[in-house]
Amino acid sequence: MPIQKDRLIERLAALGHIGSTPEGAVTRLAYTPGYRQAEEMVRTWMEEAGLKTRIDAVGNLIGRCEGKMSDAPCVMLGSHIDSVVSGGKYDGVLGVLSGVEVAQALFEDGVELDVPLEVVAFMDEEGTRWESGLWGSQAIAGQLTNAALQRHDRMGVTIAEAMKEWGLDPAQFAAATRSPSEIDSYLELHIEQGAVLENKGLAVGVVSAIAGALLLSARLSGRADHAGATPMGSLRHDAMLGAAEMALAAEAAAMAASPTCVATVGQLELKPGVFNIIPGEAWMTFDIRDIAETTRDKAEAGIRESIVDIARKHGLNVTLEESLRTTPVPLSSMVVEAISDACVELGLPVFRLPSGAGHDAQVMTQLADVGMIFVRCREGISHSPAEYVTPQDAFLGAQVLHEAVVQLGQARDIRRHND
Ligand code: HGY
Ligand code: MN
Ligand code: MN
Repeated sequence: MPIQKDRLIERLAALGHIGSTPEGAVTRLAYTPGYRQAEEMVRTWMEEAGLKTRIDAVGNLIGRCEGKMSDAPCVMLGSHIDSVVSGGKYDGVLGVLSGVEVAQALFEDGVELDVPLEVVAFMDEEGTRWESGLWGSQAIAGQLTNAALQRHDRMGVTIAEAMKEWGLDPAQFAAATRSPSEIDSYLELHIEQGAVLENKGLAVGVVSAIAGALLLSARLSGRADHAGATPMGSLRHDAMLGAAEMALAAEAAAMAASPTCVATVGQLELKPGVFNIIPGEAWMTFDIRDIAETTRDKAEAGIRESIVDIARKHGLNVTLEESLRTTPVPLSSMVVEAISDACVELGLPVFRLPSGAGHDAQVMTQLADVGMIFVRCREGISHSPAEYVTPQDAFLGAQVLHEAVVQLGQARDIRRHND
């Protein structure tokens, strides 16, 4: 099989060292020196794979090889090499390196597809620095706005400043936009980040739909008071108590909305944050997702209503901000078929499942027919140093990707004829 398992595993290990912490976690944030080091390493591998590489106007790394019909819309493979804080070695990276491995296998085999092939490492998929995310894919889909450039991180650095520092002109972000006529299909291989495949004893799954994520943040202001001298009850305007009740209300709203709806308060900051002062300020995030927009909207409405009631009860002022809202998307039946056929070709069961996690793939549905391949990860753990994929599962995932690309790399009319 032209896919080289050892090469893929060695590259995963090498990239996993960049931005790694002593506990073996990975922190590789967008527009940072660690990210640059990783990008240069992947760029070298792309070029070894016979891809011509470029960096676009927002920092997406794009490798491309022409096909027999070089003006035909391409097959694009992609994912991301940025991470969350203290994340794992496989989230995003497995998809980018599997894409490079597929390109290199075709190149070494002397296989020229009918249509061009691109492999993309999207900038800032995670959104860790600026609490947003899907930055590079939104740029390619033409969905970025000037306002978004002004978001600032914890150090007060805006995305525009970080881009300038990176050697990019933020005013030119729109130059990254691609047209639907350039991309025929987009495939993303990714770790499942859940334990469905592991529980089923499957190495690979075919993704049917991707949940839509809504990211809200709430700033609560009450009154900092003496923790010992202020009686319990209405004399206290305790922002922490308000935040705690709001987190429980979010859990209840998600569970009431649907079995696939989830809500997470992942960040909570208190001020002044001293043991003997009642917290006067709290800042918290609500990450609300579902694979159906109607039930996510239901959970959102419930959470917003509870926030107002709980703020009133504790005499708190509250401001709510929305920083990300993605639509749940079904994936393309044509690409899902191609991936399923690839599994059959390789003697693997075809198992379809939705993705609770968000991916660049959901943005790319604006431009192309999109499909995703999931690879089993141990105990479904992700966004953690304990994230792990066996070499054999990584190898199988890359083989399925290779088979699907060989199919999708044929010109559409030939494919239609063969179907
Ligand atoms: O949050 C997500 O679903 C992805 O890991 N960015
Ligand atoms: Mn992630
Ligand atoms: Mn990811």
